[in-house]
Amino acid sequence: MAVEPLPEIEARFSEGQVFPPDPAFAAQANAKQELYEEAERDFEGFWARLARERLDWSKPFDTTLEWELPFAKWFVGGELNVAYNCVDRHVKAGLGDKVAYHWIGEPGDTRTITYADLQREVAKAANALKELGVQRGDRVAIYMPMVPELPIAMLACARLGAAHTVVFGGFSAEALAGRIEDAQATLLITADGGWRRGAELRLKPAADEALDRSPSVENVLVVRRLGGDTPMRAGRDHWWHELVDRQSEDCPPVPVDSEEMLYLLYTSGTTARPKGIVHTSAGYLLGTSFTHEMIFDVKPDDVYWCAADIGWVTGHSYIVYGPLANATTGVMYEGAPDTPAWDRWWQIIEDYKVSILYCAPTAIRAFMKQGESWPQKHDLSSMRVLGSVGEPINPEAWLWYQEHIGGGRTPVVDTWWQTETGMILISPLPGVTTTKPGSATFPFPGIEADVVDGEGHSVPLGGGGYLVLKRPWPAMLRGIYGDPERYKETYWSRFPGMYFAGDGAKRDEGGYYWLLGRVDDVMNVSGHRISTIEVESALVDHKSVAEAAVVGKNDPVTGQAIFAFVTLKAGIEGSDELGRELRQHVTTVIGPMCRPKFLMFSPDLPKTRSGKIMRRLLRDIAEGRALGDTTTLADETVVDTIRANTGSAEE
Ligand code: WTA
Repeated sequence: MAVEPLPEIEARFSEGQVFPPDPAFAAQANAKQELYEEAERDFEGFWARLARERLDWSKPFDTTLEWELPFAKWFVGGELNVAYNCVDRHVKAGLGDKVAYHWIGEPGDTRTITYADLQREVAKAANALKELGVQRGDRVAIYMPMVPELPIAMLACARLGAAHTVVFGGFSAEALAGRIEDAQATLLITADGGWRRGAELRLKPAADEALDRSPSVENVLVVRRLGGDTPMRAGRDHWWHELVDRQSEDCPPVPVDSEEMLYLLYTSGTTARPKGIVHTSAGYLLGTSFTHEMIFDVKPDDVYWCAADIGWVTGHSYIVYGPLANATTGVMYEGAPDTPAWDRWWQIIEDYKVSILYCAPTAIRAFMKQGESWPQKHDLSSMRVLGSVGEPINPEAWLWYQEHIGGGRTPVVDTWWQTETGMILISPLPGVTTTKPGSATFPFPGIEADVVDGEGHSVPLGGGGYLVLKRPWPAMLRGIYGDPERYKETYWSRFPGMYFAGDGAKRDEGGYYWLLGRVDDVMNVSGHRISTIEVESALVDHKSVAEAAVVGKNDPVTGQAIFAFVTLKAGIEGSDELGRELRQHVTTVIGPMCRPKFLMFSPDLPKTRSGKIMRRLLRDIAEGRALGDTTTLADETVVDTIRANTGSAEE
């Protein structure tokens, strides 16, 4: 595995542009330098103190951490309810009228949901789930657009001690069915659809198709967002507004063990089969809420907007659980950033006086491309903190974000983490950390990270290698659902005793971390994590395809773009039409975000003598750069044939 640095980060690496914290901001900041010292003295004691102070327990825990590498248990013996901690306790404390979510539909309709509303709606939804037979320990699949019923459904599961597995609405029926099957979910919560780019995006037909292949699902709860005709199957399908609305507002939260599974979230790895990442209750809630308060400097009167989709981990941790545990007022927007025009986000910030924005570099680069006249039309003076997540942020985008959205004043926090880590692990603390554009700076207090070489030895400052974590943290994954061996193999076998993140990183002389992207067969397209092998299997699944290899090609907006090399079965000719058909096939099998942007028909693929496809060479070809070492190639003429082939079609 070679660590291939991003050229633009390399270029800035030595430039030494720094942004020390503004003293006025530092004076009011939630985070203090002492956090690092306290956590280093005794990291278990640090998390134990926070767990006692920040969470409401039905039964206090006895043991902070049981660590049988690689299996962690945090706050052992304790019991609590996550929904109670996110909703009820705030109402009890007199915050019932505080807004939990300002929701904005793409067509312009809005809803305001207070903590008291949330308590009523979550209790009613939980009672509906009970009526449908959901019990503690069950799995509930959720496939929904960005409507308020989505967090309500998640919290309703948490209230009963049932686990949810949210499947992003952009996934296909087939992908949904696979996840439902792996989780053995008994209930599916979905919607007739949602709005995207001015059009109705129907979800129920895909859900129905998935359900034909999902015998574990007994009932379906359907939110009506669009109206119009939605086929409902008698006995199986229930409208939310009929079933939930008639329930009692009284539903006592079920206290669960600290280590009870809160949710499963499927993510792509280096094989075709997505992994069900397991997150549990107490440690996860502590990790997400504490990082949220420190890293975004969230205050009681802030209006916080994380513009991710709840279908991904960023939404789970930083739209739902972290912010709600902190009684934060959030913004939730259903639709696209360019609808009706490219200033939709800036209009929302102005309307709601949003003070904290958290989004992906892809979005920032897309806005940059449209020019600063769009944000300039709006009053963005409410902005206090800007966050970035999901992919490496290039210094140019970082600087643009700070200048044009943050008015040149706000701290920018570049936050590194993963579905598996549950919470942010590497990030500046605003008011404390001197930032460098393009660097996620330092591990969060209590986190021990390192950069190691191929043998697992720590690389001295100034060098690059593999990013690892050397000590457990409260929100860490507890495993891969139903597959402890795969968990050990995937994360803990490459470097014994260490969690291997799959990312390359460099540290400069000052110890700043610079994330360099994935070093495995995982691509990052628009902040979406996509496995090369998953896309390859989708292509090979088509009747005309003999073989396929997929690589990520650097892209100025989306970070990486999918480049597919396809070898057709004998006697079949490549054509633009077939290229379109293959792209459509990938959309059907996985979802539109996995549709290859580039597709090249190639008579053969470069392989080693043992038959392994050399993706490294294909990456060189896709980037149009000089080829690396070709000596292990079984047939050297293959590369020349591919390079001579100019038939790559860009979409
Ligand atoms: C990448 C998203 C650089 C990284 C929260 C990681 C980042 C993968 C950053 C996880 C960042 C995330 N800088 N790279 N600030 N944040 N990544 O599971 O490659 O969807 O391994 O979690 O995104 O993606 P996931």
